[in-house]
Amino acid sequence: MSTLTLSKKTTIKTLNNIAACGLDVFGEESYTIDHDSENPDAIIVRSHNMYNMELDENIKAIARAGAGVNNIPVEDCTERGVVVFNTPGANANAVKEIVLTSLMALSRHIFSGVNWAKTLEGEGDRIPALVEKGKKQFIGKEIKGKTLGVIGLGSVGSLVANDALDLDMDVIGFDPFVSVNTAWNLSSNVQRAMTIEELFSRSDYITVHIPLTNDNNGMFNEEAFNMMKKGVHILNFSRGELVNEEDMAAALESGKVDKFVTDFPDENVLKMKNAIPLPHLGASTKESEENCAVMAARQVRDFLETGNIKNS
Ligand code: MLT
Repeated sequence: MSTLTLSKKTTIKTLNNIAACGLDVFGEESYTIDHDSENPDAIIVRSHNMYNMELDENIKAIARAGAGVNNIPVEDCTERGVVVFNTPGANANAVKEIVLTSLMALSRHIFSGVNWAKTLEGEGDRIPALVEKGKKQFIGKEIKGKTLGVIGLGSVGSLVANDALDLDMDVIGFDPFVSVNTAWNLSSNVQRAMTIEELFSRSDYITVHIPLTNDNNGMFNEEAFNMMKKGVHILNFSRGELVNEEDMAAALESGKVDKFVTDFPDENVLKMKNAIPLPHLGASTKESEENCAVMAARQVRDFLETGNIKNS
């Protein structure tokens, strides 16, 4: 690809708030950052849905400061010669930490325990109330010795799997694309599930770390739940559409699924008392936002200045 000559200032548009250190990557002499530009050379975006946006002919690149690109019409962009980047791995540690936090918190009823303890306001002497009325309903389970199934062994799944071993869990992994033996930096102590059905049937806890595709939309459905152990715990910090929420609500109702932690609640799930909905917090740390912004900005700058396409 030929090197692009930057005769005038190059315009970068940002959608959503991109961390300032990312924008600093663009030197003021050659670049303008214009959040309202209608004909930018490149766009850096977080979660904004770009499907309904008119893309100006001038646009050469779009970078997602995050892993998933399901908010970007990638095929359309590719046809038009617009390069699409994402930032694989840049928020992996943040997501790993929220997964392990949730895994332990749900096992020890931290979420419901806090909510219940707050209801004691005005009880006067709270200690007897806490001990007599509260404690028994919150008997938890230790995660030590339990089996964690990790679906997707990319940058997030591999980190989760490795660190769960350090928490004395048995860990099995499955990835539809990557062999467990070649997954990046995966500990050899992570066992390999030959099929997703095997992972479903062996796991006490299941966490999913795969991009949303047409093939896996609704993959957590009644058929899948039927293969799982009764009382399984499921964590979805990937995309809500991976779960058939009506089937999930039924599985939560019957106790087939004991707890469901999700970054993407819908109405069916929100009303279930054993669902733990979160407002898409997986990558919401200062560090992660900065890592993603800097990686996205460097990809765009390098592409515009040299024509190099490097998605890392
Ligand atoms: C990702 O796609 O990187 C995560 O879901 C977090 C985010 O949406 O930025």
